[in-house]
Amino acid sequence: KNQSPTKNIESRNCAAHRTAAAAAGVRRVQYHQENVMERAGIEIMNKDFRKSTVYQIYPKSFCDTNKDGIGDLRGVIEKLDYIKELGTDYIWLTPFFVSPQNDNGYDVEDYYNIDPSYGTMEDVEELIAEAGKRDIGLMFDMVFNHVSTRHEWFRKAMDGAPYYKDFFIFRKGKGDGVPPTNWESKFGGNAWEYVEKFDEYYLHLFDVTQADLNWENENLRKEIQKILKFWMEKGVRGFRFDVINLISKACYEDDETGDGRKYYTDGPKIHQYLKEMHDATFGTDPGIVTVGEMSSTTMENCFKYAGRDTGELSMVFSFHHLKVDFMGNEKWVLVPADFQKLKDIIFDWQTKMAEHNAWNAVFWCNHDQPRVVSRFGDEGKYWKESAKMLGTIIHCLRGTPYVYQGEEIGMTNTDFTDISQFKDVESLNHYQILQHKGLSASDALRIIQIHSRDNGRTPMQWDDSKYAGFAAEDSAEPWIAVNGNHTKINAADQLRDEDSIFHYYQKLIALRKELDIIAYGSIEPLAEKDPCVFAYRRMYEGHELIVAANFYGRDYTWKNAPDVDGYTRVIGNYKDAAAAENGVMGLRPYEAAVWYK
Ligand code: GLC
Ligand code: CA
Repeated sequence: KNQSPTKNIESRNCAAHRTAAAAAGVRRVQYHQENVMERAGIEIMNKDFRKSTVYQIYPKSFCDTNKDGIGDLRGVIEKLDYIKELGTDYIWLTPFFVSPQNDNGYDVEDYYNIDPSYGTMEDVEELIAEAGKRDIGLMFDMVFNHVSTRHEWFRKAMDGAPYYKDFFIFRKGKGDGVPPTNWESKFGGNAWEYVEKFDEYYLHLFDVTQADLNWENENLRKEIQKILKFWMEKGVRGFRFDVINLISKACYEDDETGDGRKYYTDGPKIHQYLKEMHDATFGTDPGIVTVGEMSSTTMENCFKYAGRDTGELSMVFSFHHLKVDFMGNEKWVLVPADFQKLKDIIFDWQTKMAEHNAWNAVFWCNHDQPRVVSRFGDEGKYWKESAKMLGTIIHCLRGTPYVYQGEEIGMTNTDFTDISQFKDVESLNHYQILQHKGLSASDALRIIQIHSRDNGRTPMQWDDSKYAGFAAEDSAEPWIAVNGNHTKINAADQLRDEDSIFHYYQKLIALRKELDIIAYGSIEPLAEKDPCVFAYRRMYEGHELIVAANFYGRDYTWKNAPDVDGYTRVIGNYKDAAAAENGVMGLRPYEAAVWYK
């Protein structure tokens, strides 16, 4: 090891970190800093994120190897060949840092260490190296809007250390138990928590154990840069930034017309903060890919967040297209999905982001969303067709597609029938809030069943065994129940079946690599007002790609369809091509087809 060429880097980084950590008074990192890829002799290849696809893993629900019922990092290592087979370029891993797990790891206690329920630093290093060998880059999920109230910074703040108190947002109330503002926590209730010893409140836009950080404080921003450098130097190839557009608060005033979000969303210094973070950390390495999770954002801000030359991030997640079954911003209601709205929003973002040289992440699913096949497709008769159709729409768009674990095998929403089966803090809070508003327990449950984030968090369905292969049959009960349909929907079956959703996703992912038009082409919406069809055209260097999908479970004749004579169908979810002649296209239930010329 002493002979290793990385030794110098190793000792330098290690010393640098120690001094910095000591200066800031934070706990010492126990691990030697060393680029895992270099140590393993892996050459790092920079990828073009426009040609790439990302696979998202929620480790808690992915694969459990030590039989405690909780998915772990060794489980991710075990499944790397499966991900390689699917063909994605990156893995976005949701947080596995030390955390009390009140929000499943989005409440970080220590960014430099691994939560023992997920594994060890050695496991993380092995994961980075093993993924690297397969030419898969790791993207880590950085939660910088808030930390767990168990984080050392917050503890020191509570001990009264002014240096750390200013890392947070403490404010006086308005007297008589009235908090500083009327802002609502995203997880329900007021967003301020009273601290008696200071007679002040701290802000928490999420759970009361997730205290918001004060980005105005330069020392805090420096700490964040150190964390990013630490992981970059380990060999991490990308970052996803959790609710990053909430870090700049405009002011602390009552919101007379809403829940407060207008005062902290896309705030006044957000672009400055992102540029500073970019320049000081990942901006120095062109191979690092970044994606910001943008809560209730505006497109004008995203032109900058994800602009080609704006020096902020590679791309953005926005969520407007996933609120088409909400009532405005109100998620806890039952309203049917508005297809016209869905198309309008997606096309608006597609065309305008392109005009401004900005880049979207494109996706249906993640760990905060219900399963798309249940949401916009058909879990029943046309399960397979609708899952493939939805995949087709996303993967041929202009943007980087994200596949969330289980989406590639058409996993559905939970089959939970009792509130005790739900685990998510947001769902449990809103179950109570809905009943306080006067709903019956069963009506509240119905809403939770449809919208709960737990729909995306049931264990990955690997096979038809007792715990779906997520955990061994003799393991502890999984932390959240396996969906009973794993006997029908599982990866093992689909790997054997050439016609499976898995193999269809595999083709979609490969197609983006084969055809430059998918990665680089312009986009033109088609059939914008058609009540059933989702269609668009891509164009690039004289080539054309036409994507046509029937969004519903009945036969449909699309009049005024483009003429696809002379085009090749490059992928489709029915064996033979759709009937198309003279600008009239017959689309079978949930049919999707892609033509190329
Ligand atoms: C993001 C995460 C979500 C988490 C929240 C607070 O929206 O995706 O899971 O609860 O931020 O960190
Ligand atoms: Ca485990």
